[in-house]
Amino acid sequence: MIAAAGSLVAAIWAALHLQTLLLAVVTFLFLADYFKSRRPKNYPPGPQRLPFIGNILHFNKKQPHLVVQQLVKKYGNVISLDFGVKFSVIVSTLPLIKEAFTQLEENFMSRPILPFQNFVFNENGLIFSSGQTWKEQRRFALMTLRNFGLGKKSLEQRIQEEAQHLVEVIKEEKGQPFNPHFKINNAVSNIICSITFGERFEYHDSQFQELLRLLDKAVILSSSKMVRFYNIFPWIMKHLPGSHQTALATWRQLKSYISDVVENHRRDWNPDEPRDFIDAFLTEITKHSDKTTTSFNEENLICSTLDLFFAGTETTSTTMRWALLYMAVYPEIQEKVQAEIDRVIGQEKQPSLTDRDSMPYTNAVVHEVQRMANVVPLNVPREVTVDTTLAGFHLPKGSILQTNLTALHMDPNEWATPDVFNPEHFLENGEFKKRESFLPFSMGKRACLGEQLARSELFIFFTSLVQKFTFKPPVNEKLSLNSRIGVPISPVSHHLCAVPRL
Ligand code: HEM
Ligand SMILES: *[C@@H]1O[C@H](CO)[C@@H](O)[C@H](O)[C@H]1NC(C)=O
Repeated sequence: MIAAAGSLVAAIWAALHLQTLLLAVVTFLFLADYFKSRRPKNYPPGPQRLPFIGNILHFNKKQPHLVVQQLVKKYGNVISLDFGVKFSVIVSTLPLIKEAFTQLEENFMSRPILPFQNFVFNENGLIFSSGQTWKEQRRFALMTLRNFGLGKKSLEQRIQEEAQHLVEVIKEEKGQPFNPHFKINNAVSNIICSITFGERFEYHDSQFQELLRLLDKAVILSSSKMVRFYNIFPWIMKHLPGSHQTALATWRQLKSYISDVVENHRRDWNPDEPRDFIDAFLTEITKHSDKTTTSFNEENLICSTLDLFFAGTETTSTTMRWALLYMAVYPEIQEKVQAEIDRVIGQEKQPSLTDRDSMPYTNAVVHEVQRMANVVPLNVPREVTVDTTLAGFHLPKGSILQTNLTALHMDPNEWATPDVFNPEHFLENGEFKKRESFLPFSMGKRACLGEQLARSELFIFFTSLVQKFTFKPPVNEKLSLNSRIGVPISPVSHHLCAVPRL
């Protein structure tokens, strides 16, 4: 009896203890969350946050951009949001974006470390690295891109040859409806593959198609809600099933593919005759092998190559798909492009970059495609590395800076018809006109590394295709200009007819 009472008391004690302990833990978590998220003085305004998850529920709706539009209206051009990871500041006007990327640039040169990206890249490579690693990798990548452009075959020539292949494979469709997605992906990707892997892939190569599908899947899944939750609660989400797991697995597959390519390169590597980016990197690794502080190691080789592969494929190929779609939707604009091509280049000669200066209309169309496509709407986030004042607001060290490129590309004060595709935005008296509010590649020292390459590809691919085909919607079909969720923003899956012009 006494023993039973004793154990009952002990049980109650234990339960109480457990309760107290739980209470203490919960109180501690709330306090920690409170202190972690206290807004510093002069902090940019923004909506009230919830404990732990911040403002994430604000975005739990179908149209996140409309939510933010309301917030921008209410709070102004510099607003703060909390996605549960770190404070994020979103800047939305040209003067402030320019200030951030010129005078204040040194304070925003790093990338924030988010658990998801960190799991895949661990601060290696080009896009998600910072500090010394970033400096070395970026300098090396730029130099190597330039060198392989100056080699036996110039980059321009490679793009021209690839454009020819693309024309051939589209010709096979005989003007019937087809989905241009993976053919264009393949063409665009081949340019970066020839630089990094030293080879291009045939359009019927099923293994390469599989790789491109993998890349497409990785990119789509990475902007899923589950990945956002992973970034807030990595230690819980790690153990839960969901699309974040598929995303992680897909990135792992991509890395292991690159790693195999690297192994193959090692086997027949000749340091005196570098064939591509990977060979040049292998030379760099041996050069630095005695140093411990170098970023020239296997992990950076794989991550930088993967960065070039995915940054160089998805953005450019998505923009190309928008370009063809806009031509099919605006036949009168396509006719004007074709008239200019026929006048300046003719129907036989292969378009080249030197033609661009004599083709203001086509050049304006390509720019307008990039403005409307707006494939990287919020730029790539930067980290605030020291306490900084921007527009009178205090941005504390460690917060995330996002710049709203959509606000520039759709600014009603800058563009005559912001919501309508209109090449006149980039024309003045028949001449091409540069526009300041056009920053698809961002600006400053950390702007897109592939801007020159991307612009060459867009011009040559686009001109070569429109020279040979007229793009049309399938009979009795209306094409949609709606976009698919995810970055880059891409058109929803569609079919086009490429009717040969001759
Ligand atoms: C239409 C095509 C493209 C668009 C719209 C685009 C856009 C961008 C943007 C907005 C950034 C972020 C810049 C910043 O943080 O300020 C970026 C970074 C980057 N892009 Fe592109 N890009 C395109 C094509 C390419 C190509 C073809 C390559 C391949 C060489 C490439 C490689 C990179 C790399 C490596 C970075 C990271 C740079 C760094 O963090 O230092 N991009 N791009
Ligand atoms: C960016 O600006 C556009 C246009 O002003 C607006 O619709 C959008 O909601 C803004 N997005 C963010 C995240 O600030």
